[in-house]
Amino acid sequence: MGYRVVVVGATGNVGREMLNILAERQFPVDELAALASRRSLGTEVSFGDKTLTTQDLDTFDFTGWDMALFAVGSAATKDYAPKAAAAGCVVIDNSSLYRYDPDVPLIVPECNPQAVHGYSKKNIIANPNCSTAQMVVALKPLHDRATIKRVVVSTYQSVSGAGKEGMDELWDQTKAVYNPINEVEPKKFQKQIAFNVIPHIDVFMEDGSTKEEWKMVAETKKIVDPAIKVTATCVRVPVFVGHSEAVNIEFEEFLDEDEARDILREAPGVMVIDKREAGGYVTPVECVGDFATFISRIRQDSTIENGLNLWCVSDNLRKGAALNAVQIAELLGREVLKKG
Ligand SMILES: NC(=O)c1ccc[n+]([C@@H]2O[C@H](COP(=O)([O-])OP(=O)(O)OC[C@H]3O[C@@H](n4cnc5c(N)ncnc54)[C@H](OP(=O)(O)O)[C@@H]3O)[C@@H](O)[C@H]2O)c1
Repeated sequence: MGYRVVVVGATGNVGREMLNILAERQFPVDELAALASRRSLGTEVSFGDKTLTTQDLDTFDFTGWDMALFAVGSAATKDYAPKAAAAGCVVIDNSSLYRYDPDVPLIVPECNPQAVHGYSKKNIIANPNCSTAQMVVALKPLHDRATIKRVVVSTYQSVSGAGKEGMDELWDQTKAVYNPINEVEPKKFQKQIAFNVIPHIDVFMEDGSTKEEWKMVAETKKIVDPAIKVTATCVRVPVFVGHSEAVNIEFEEFLDEDEARDILREAPGVMVIDKREAGGYVTPVECVGDFATFISRIRQDSTIENGLNLWCVSDNLRKGAALNAVQIAELLGREVLKKG
């Protein structure tokens, strides 16, 4: 016996990837419902070799469904996730709405799988922000060995992190650079994104940081260790899929770069590609469609006592969203619901 699974936001970037990954990982599905807004009613989406017709979230009855993987924005999540949870369907949510709620576990299965048992307070589990998910997969095994004190991270985040409209804007603006008659004004992004970089993701906070930067701080603390200090600068770059991060880590204890490389080679969800030669590292276009978080450029930071630098790349629609959500579904199935 398998699960009755709902994918909410099935026409979006993350929702479509969730359907792909559920099929690729042969998640034990007995029945699958694909939901989106009324605008998309009847739109067909692929699930393995099957085609599903999307239904309207607004009129869907969650009673009798085991789990719902939500990939709609916070506003729609606020309206519908409590209804699903109240109907007995466990919500695994990709929006930021519940991430900081003390009654909702925020899970990256490689880091804090034990948190799954906290799901029952609200019947909701939160999935982290894309930039946090890939970073903590790398930080956790290093923290277990040498205790991280502080992380300084700069991100290079792809436009797919801003949904399908973000991808369209990069595509249309790129074409317009070559054909200026069809100039495309910034709409999804604050400035031109084609052939440019923008040091601004999500809204500004009072202290001058952005919400995206704040999320990396708060989520790393909730998932790995509240004692870790994080300072982040999040930047949007003209890449379609795949987030990159330059990460500087300060430890309590000395950690040699070779030992760090060995630890990361053994770590779940991590793939180390680190040759000190041209091309001996991973770039975002190479990580698209992959499950792993790729780590390259591991090296000592000789400006501090116990420091390391590394380069971290992952498919933001996968580890940053859909894959992590499916891994949570697998964890929930294995540890709690026990069907399949
Ligand atoms: N992209 C990433 O890297 C990433 C990473 C982590 C988390 N997330 C989060 O995942 C969620 C989805 O992101 P995305 O990138 O997939 O966005 P997207 O490509 O813009 O897709 C949004 C999806 O939500 C549906 N939707 C929007 N409003 C709705 C409503 N009122 N009722 C029903 N369905 C509604 C859309 O349906 P229609 O097609 O019918 O409009 C579409 O299926 C967001 O909360 C985002 O913050 C994204």
